[in-house]
Amino acid sequence: MTGHRGDMPATGKLWGGRFSGETDALMKRFNDSIGFDIRLWDADIRGSIAYAGALARAGVITENEAATLVRGLREVHAEFAGGRFEVKPGDEDIHTAVERRLKEIVGEVAGKLHTGRSRNDQVATDLRLFCLDAIRDAQHAICDLQSALLAQARSHVRTLMPGYTHLQRAQPITFAHWCLSYFWQFARDVERLDDCARRTAVLPLGSGALAGNPFAIDRESLAAEIGFTPRRRGGAEDRKDAAVPSRLRGQVTQNSLDGVSDRDFVAELLFCCAMIGVHLSRLAEDLIVYSTAEFGFVTFDDAYATGSSLMPQKKNPDAMELARGKAGRLIGNLTAVLTMLKGLPMSYNKDLQEDKEPLFDSLDTLALALPVAAGAIRTLKVNAERMRAALDPAMLATDVAEYLVRKGVPFREAHHLSGRAVALAESKGVRLNELEIGDWRLISPRFDQDIVRVFDFAQSVASRDVTGGTSPRAVREQIRQAKRWLDARRKTQDARRTT
Ligand code: ARG
Repeated sequence: MTGHRGDMPATGKLWGGRFSGETDALMKRFNDSIGFDIRLWDADIRGSIAYAGALARAGVITENEAATLVRGLREVHAEFAGGRFEVKPGDEDIHTAVERRLKEIVGEVAGKLHTGRSRNDQVATDLRLFCLDAIRDAQHAICDLQSALLAQARSHVRTLMPGYTHLQRAQPITFAHWCLSYFWQFARDVERLDDCARRTAVLPLGSGALAGNPFAIDRESLAAEIGFTPRRRGGAEDRKDAAVPSRLRGQVTQNSLDGVSDRDFVAELLFCCAMIGVHLSRLAEDLIVYSTAEFGFVTFDDAYATGSSLMPQKKNPDAMELARGKAGRLIGNLTAVLTMLKGLPMSYNKDLQEDKEPLFDSLDTLALALPVAAGAIRTLKVNAERMRAALDPAMLATDVAEYLVRKGVPFREAHHLSGRAVALAESKGVRLNELEIGDWRLISPRFDQDIVRVFDFAQSVASRDVTGGTSPRAVREQIRQAKRWLDARRKTQDARRTT
């Protein structure tokens, strides 16, 4: 592989001073991260603008110099935003690319921006900023999917279907109840992302390469300016700055070695993504099964299915199969980063550059999988008659036992007697509700004529009326709780968006 810019004079690099030899062409390709970390451009420039201010406040550069740097950085930002930024062969990563361009715009003063800063604390800061934006986007996408599930639930509070354990018909439930079971999984995902954001919004900048910044920059105000979490009031360290409002003092990392090498926030976010992937995958698996001819519970809209190139009759649930399949790479990305981290000596090591591609891949994967799943759910046709037809009276065997329990029979015995009724019906080749009163009485004299009233699926469902149960009343309450949860989320998310 020749001619791949390996002929750049080493001295043209940010770190070229001590080098006289050139970088091998393949080594350069191996080392460069601009191909993927270019996505950090917005975070990188935001961080640099704030850092220029911090340098000025610390008296390291003049206010004028800071203003020039900020003006130049805004121009670079505008170039990226307008799709006009040109990557040059010497640009190793996003940090060098921005600084190179800044120098072209504002001249030598650009060389002052990196004072006391290292790409180690810079990239850690950039990535945290990037993750915070990504978390918000993911939360929005999850909420959209939840609202699709909620809408389906609303239409199917009385739609009966078999509930399964071991994928065997277990007890009747409502389709609304099934929909909401996924709603709450995704609610936990959204909250888990909040928790992840809290630990991500801590500033590493000021850690230098590893030992700390020598120019007495005010890291706490820098953190607040960049938008990291305000420090909680009342903490021990807070007392010395009691005069400064806490909203002006953000959280900063407490150890520079940890500051430059901590990627827990990446691993955590990847875990959140993997968990979301697992939830999507389970949802997908259910719907794939439910959409088969054998079940026929649901039909996917044409917009979310595809055909076969060979078999003209096929309509395949590809949206759901991909949602299920993508869980593999989401879990893989988490594994990749954890494995990369596990053997790192303190502090920064170039291995850490390997944090980005798995992260970006997981975020990109969900950025498609979540809205596609939302669309598939929103347009899903529910075949209530097929669901109803799949109910078998044997699914009320538990209700038969409960009938006896209400007559004072201990549950264990009631369970046994009901089981004998199931066996008898099976041996007679009839359905459980087709046993005659004589059959019931043979099993136990506690069975009366009113046993026939047990064989009512709607009533069985209505009897599971506790909080979290499948009765229409309980499900309506569940829908209210879900709506309240979603409304509250939307409010905080919209508020965040406008700040
Ligand atoms: N591209 C690097 C990364 O992603 C930036 C930090 C490089 N630091 C260094 N000392 N070479 O980690």
